[in-house]
Amino acid sequence: MPKFYITTPIYYVNDKPHIGHAYTTVAADVLARWHKTKNDKVFFLTGTDEHGIKVAQAAAAAGIPEKEFVDEKAQTFKEAWQEFNVSYDNFIRTTDSNHILNVEKTLQKLYDREFIYKGDYEGLYCVGCEQYKTKDDLIEGKCREHNQEPILMKEESYFFKLSQFKKTLEKKISSDEFEIQPKERKNEVLSFIRRGLKDISISRKNVGWGIPLPFDKSYTTYVWVDAFLNYLTGVGWSGKTDSYPEMWPPEVQLMSKDILRVHATIWPGILLAFGFPLPKKIFVHGYFTVNNQKMGKSLGNVIWPEELIKKFGVDGARYLLMSSLVSGQDSDISWGKLAEKYNADLANGLGNLVSRVVKLNEGIGVKVERKKSKTELSFMEAKVKKRTKSSSPIENLDKLFKEIKFKEILDEIWQQVAWANKYIEEKKLWELVKANPKEGKKVLENLISLISGIGEVVSPFLPETSEKIKNILKTGEVKSLFPRV
Ligand code: MSP
Repeated sequence: MPKFYITTPIYYVNDKPHIGHAYTTVAADVLARWHKTKNDKVFFLTGTDEHGIKVAQAAAAAGIPEKEFVDEKAQTFKEAWQEFNVSYDNFIRTTDSNHILNVEKTLQKLYDREFIYKGDYEGLYCVGCEQYKTKDDLIEGKCREHNQEPILMKEESYFFKLSQFKKTLEKKISSDEFEIQPKERKNEVLSFIRRGLKDISISRKNVGWGIPLPFDKSYTTYVWVDAFLNYLTGVGWSGKTDSYPEMWPPEVQLMSKDILRVHATIWPGILLAFGFPLPKKIFVHGYFTVNNQKMGKSLGNVIWPEELIKKFGVDGARYLLMSSLVSGQDSDISWGKLAEKYNADLANGLGNLVSRVVKLNEGIGVKVERKKSKTELSFMEAKVKKRTKSSSPIENLDKLFKEIKFKEILDEIWQQVAWANKYIEEKKLWELVKANPKEGKKVLENLISLISGIGEVVSPFLPETSEKIKNILKTGEVKSLFPRV
């Protein structure tokens, strides 16, 4: 049985989740669900990143002790994913005692094997990124991501010997053994690595909110080193560097460009030090901007996930997220554009198709024939084959899923929805069922078979709707799937 291990980044708990976090998490959920329908052995990991300066500062600003603060915020992420119908297999928190224990074990091993040494560090540090920055990373002295000036950090520190993995990493990335998608992102990372990899500081002297270094308790662990290890502890690793979990390595690690560089250098560096296989693929999706501006609380333009669900329902929100980003590219969204898309594709598109067909079928009573799931799509298959010359729509969709092209998959399916709505018009089905019931019945059979197929293939994206379609076709009860907004 093929395995499929997928991860999202673990999110900082300095605030509640926004739609950027929701996008990555729902995207991972869609991929996990697709692989579950193929009967693959799936493990889907998400969670929260709870240590470091950024979180400690947020707790201080709220006047709440760190642990209480992170407990509360981690809960908001869990609740959000529940509302979004996200089917993760584990939600890891970096304050989990098991995770902390594994981080300590790992660091001790790396220290014993002399991958860690003590030295002096001086550099510019962006608290927003929780990363050191070079002059090239700044615009007018400020971090590009956070538009804030980094602070100068100067301290004795423990270093991880990342520089020794430069050649191996370059080779594994350029050969796609460790694949980075899309290609432009791979090229960016490669040119960064070719400019030289420095050893990195992995300890903090004055950050109390972190995991103490096991070999020198006057320091805490750099939050990124702590965070990366979640991908191992979250899937049942016991901290032993001579064996890795059964599901290892991840088939896909999803994230956005903001955190690619560290994921393509420090993270695989740690794995190489253990001698563990690297993740098969990192997929970098684009960024949402709102009305052409970066989303930010200070700009007051953040779209919160709960608002999206309130307005469009769970499946409506999932659909809008997944159809908004073209693979790998950024996308601008606004409430107006979202509502337009919802009404066009869901209310007038799929929802209208299902209710029209079920209504026209009243008194005629065409039933869905329960065939094997693959041939259930036979009608859709014929249509898609004509257009794409692909051997079957399932293979075609599977290919698009492998390439992580959600919008393209939805476009493909929605072409069938549009085709079916047009077919009803062309056949004037409402007249045909009366004038020529035999012919009308045939058209209805085609349509019902198509809708049943669509109901199946949308299930990773719209799990509730998929169930509802199944029931509607079974009972013949007309229900509005997506009320207009
Ligand atoms: N804690 C680190 C990750 C550690 S993983 C070992 C972190 N957390 S974060 O809360 O800042 O989340 C960053 C991720 O959230 C991005 O990589 C992306 O997956 C998602 N998004 C955050 N803002 C986004 C947009 N505006 N648009 C799309 N997704 C973005 O970095």
